[in-house]
Amino acid sequence: MNIGFIQFSPVLGDPDASIEKIKRLINQCEGADLVVLPELSNSGYNFESKEQAWELSEEIPKGKFCDFIQTEARERGIHIVAGVNERDGERLYNTAILTGPEGIIGKYRKTHLFWDEPDIFLPGDLGLPVFDIGECRLGILICFDWIFPEVWRVLALKGADLVCHPSNLVIPGLCQKAIPVHALTNRIYIITANRIGTEGNLTFTGLSTIADPKGKVLIQASSSEEEVGVVDMNISLARDKMITPRNHAFNDRRPELYSLLTENDPDE
Ligand code: ACM
Repeated sequence: MNIGFIQFSPVLGDPDASIEKIKRLINQCEGADLVVLPELSNSGYNFESKEQAWELSEEIPKGKFCDFIQTEARERGIHIVAGVNERDGERLYNTAILTGPEGIIGKYRKTHLFWDEPDIFLPGDLGLPVFDIGECRLGILICFDWIFPEVWRVLALKGADLVCHPSNLVIPGLCQKAIPVHALTNRIYIITANRIGTEGNLTFTGLSTIADPKGKVLIQASSSEEEVGVVDMNISLARDKMITPRNHAFNDRRPELYSLLTENDPDE
């Protein structure tokens, strides 16, 4: 199975321009079976106001961007994970959809909101789903979710071979250091599809990355160019959790010592 990312700069306020860019870049993802796009690919990130975020949001699966992603997945016979500014009734969520050749399979709503995002979005309410797409099982995290090792572990324990990570990262270098480590400790593949460009006071850091279950960076994009990356994924590597012939990454855990992780206020 070949997996890839599209790194680009969505055009804030001009979804049609963003769609045109994706159309051009997805043509370069030769041989890819699954492609990941950045966070909020339909809208851009640094909204002037909640009203602007609202105007640039869309319902899933009805909106124009979702329609475009579904058409691409169907015509190419591939899976696509893409960040979407999602409108649901009166609410907005920072969401990623998983689409296959037959249409939308599921979605994930960002769990840990970053900086001003709580002024716009509600925190995710769909948990941490893992989707079986036949060729592999995959989970989704969005951008700032990266700093919480718990969510990577939960997805891996639920059987994810691969975590797709649409992002709009702004702190240079931090997440890109952590991705191979999350991949290594959980023995999974990770695709971080980051964006580039500047919106107002925010510059996005690119360096989209695919890491393998041994913590090896298989491919990394530049920090400033629109580009794609595609690599081969060896699923058996992700399903082998043995660290030595006598050590298993999951079975050797001592969860009875970890109860603090699920307490809301560890000082109580
Ligand atoms: C981020 O969560 N967009 C940094």
